[in-house]
Amino acid sequence: MPTTEIDGQLNATERRLLTEAITECAQKPQVAIEVGTWLGGGSTLHILRALEKNGAGHLWGIEAERSIYDQMLANIRAAAPDAAHRFTPLFGFSQDVIKKWLPEQGPDARVDFAFLDGGNNPREQMDEFRFLDPFIPVGGQILAHDAKARKGRWLVPYLSTLDNWQTTLHDVSYEGLFQAKKIAQQPSAASLKSAKARLFRQQCNPAEIAATVLPANVCLFFLRLMPRCLSRRVAEGRV
Ligand SMILES: C[S@@+](CC[C@H](N)C(=O)[O-])C[C@H]1O[C@@H](n2cnc3c(N)ncnc32)[C@H](O)[C@@H]1O
Repeated sequence: MPTTEIDGQLNATERRLLTEAITECAQKPQVAIEVGTWLGGGSTLHILRALEKNGAGHLWGIEAERSIYDQMLANIRAAAPDAAHRFTPLFGFSQDVIKKWLPEQGPDARVDFAFLDGGNNPREQMDEFRFLDPFIPVGGQILAHDAKARKGRWLVPYLSTLDNWQTTLHDVSYEGLFQAKKIAQQPSAASLKSAKARLFRQQCNPAEIAATVLPANVCLFFLRLMPRCLSRRVAEGRV
């Protein structure tokens, strides 16, 4: 296995948990999708190495920023030449890419493993979940990074409330890693109702309402007026 080091996020424990989610699960994932590859050395490389260890599976990795995407492609070729045949990069925003990618998978489309680590807006992870959920079989998994930050503020409580998902928040980093395994195809009506009520309460957060209704440049203007620590707290949910 080549040892070329490339830039990537996630700490050593998160990388291990991500790897074990793939190598130690009962049903080895055949179809994996990732949102937010960044430069490839974090989640992408470790998912690919885990699939290669299993000797099965393919990863589709989505990245929205062109220069990062191009660098990530070069990085993966350099650091994981033996696992690169298991990788298909997809350029664009997750909401557009997933909507187009799913029908391309044919009538038997399914997603065994998803890693969600795109933008800071919590709506994105919810949208990604809504697109993917119908295609995730029982036993399939979702892992999501920044679970304690703004990014995970809608998905984490929502999925944790649904009784057809078994969930764990790994408090192993400042950001937090969320892991969820589907244990039944559908949630009970009662848990779905509670999850929707929790989501609604999160959506009523004034900062999220402002982010939804105000144009991005207006939000940016107000964020720039704030002290740095406060603007990070509002934009990323960090303290
Ligand atoms: C936190 S970084 C991902 C880190 C990476 N998972 C790792 O382990 O190194 C987030 C990445 O998601 C990308 N991104 C943001 N919003 C996105 C979206 N809606 N769809 C796809 N990529 C997105 C950003 O350009 C950035 O490269």
